[in-house]
Formats: sequence, C-alpha cells, structure tokens
Amino acid sequence: MKKLFTAAALVMALSACSGQQTTTSAEPVNVMSLGQSEITDIRAADAVAVYPKRGKSIERTFVHQPPMIPHKAEYPITLKKNGCMSCHSPAKAKRMKATQIDPSHLLADAKLNNEYYNCTQCHTPQAENKTELVENDFSNK
Ligand code: HEC
Ligand code: HEC
Repeated sequence: MKKLFTAAALVMALSACSGQQTTTSAEPVNVMSLGQSEITDIRAADAVAVYPKRGKSIERTFVHQPPMIPHKAEYPITLKKNGCMSCHSPAKAKRMKATQIDPSHLLADAKLNNEYYNCTQCHTPQAENKTELVENDFSNK
C-alpha cells in the first residue's frame, strides 16, 4: 500500500513539471538591430579591426581623457588576472615598450588601486577602419 502511494506521488510530481505551458496574452516584442541591416538579412561579415601601428598612441581630444587603446582589447580581466597589467604595470611597462598606467591608478604603496581594475570601463579600443554605429559630431574645438 505504501509503495502504491509513493508511486502515485511520483507520477503526480513528474506531471507537475512536464513543461506544459500556460498561455499568456503578452504582446509580441519587436526586436531591432543596432546595425544597418535586418537581423534576418544575410550580409558580408564586418571588416576585421585595423589598429594604429604598434607603439603609436592616439591623440587625446580633451584634458584628462582616458587615452583610447591603439590595439585590440581582448585581454582577460578576471578575478585572478588582469591581462592589461602584464604590459602596463609600472614593473613591466618599460620592458613591454608600453606607457605605464597613470599614477592616479596606483595606491600609495604603488599597487593597483582596485577601483581602476576594470580598465575597459574607461579605456576603449579605437580601430582606424571603423565608422561609428551611431552618428557623433563631437569636437573639442
Ligand atoms: C602585449 C602588451 C600589451 C597588453 C597586454 C596591453 N597593452 Fe595597451 N599598449 C601596449 C603598447 C605597446 C602600446 C603603445 C605604446 C603606448 O602608447 O603606451 C599600448 C597602448 C595603450 C594605451 C594608450 C596609451 C597612451 O598614452 O596613448 C592604452 C590606454 C592601453 N594601451 C590600454 C590597455 C588596456 C586597457 C589593456 C587591456 C585590455 C592593454 N592596454 C593591454 C601594449 C599592451
Ligand atoms: C575610472 C576610469 C579609469 C580606469 C578604470 C582605468 N583608467 Fe587608465 N586612465 C584614466 C584617465 C582619466 C587617464 C588620463 C589621466 C590624465 O591624463 O589625467 C588614464 C590614463 C591611462 C594611461 C596613460 C598614462 C600616461 O602617462 O599617459 C594608461 C597607459 C592607462 N590609463 C592604462 C590603464 C589600465 C591598464 C587600466 C586597468 C588596470 C586603467 N588604465 C584603468 C581612466 C581610467
């Protein structure tokens, strides 16, 4: 008898999560693409980003602007590792021929201030062959 109850309970539990959907009356959402083409359109792949020559920095357009990154920025920034620091930390910058991080990013003991840990929150890569996705007529003049 006990076994029968257990089996019945199991069947009921299984049917409760059988994925039967309740019908909702929500309006369909119109998803739009940021790019030029419809999401369903087939088009040529975007050009691969071309960055300024190694060692060249991009001119800043206003005082205290976080300089643009003149190279790819796909270096890991994780809890364990900051890929940017392996070239830009004060200890390694000279050897890697990179500018060392700004003194403002350092604590008194010359360690990285973790408020600056997420580099790409302020510094963004700037490829030479890309046109902007949204119109931008910013000028510092
Ligand atoms: C393999 C070494 C290397 C790594 C890793 C690296 N960089 Fe660079 N970076 C360079 C070199 C070389 C330059 C060009 C010389 C310069 O301007 O410092 C440069 C330039 C820059 C500049 C421009 C500096 C200026 O004064 O104009 C910024 C900003 C920058 N990198 C940020 C980053 C960030 C953020 C990361 C991580 C996403 C990163 N870099 C990872 C080597 C590296
Ligand atoms: C909160 C924003 C912010 C974050 C986060 C940040 N930076 Fe910066 N960074 C700046 C600003 C602003 C400047 C320009 C400072 C100035 O000229 O006053 C700068 C300057 C620099 C420079 C140029 C220094 C020089 O002497 O020309 C390098 C290189 C740099 N940052 C690398 C990094 C790296 C690598 C990281 C991550 C470890 C990082 N930054 C995180 C805002 C930030």
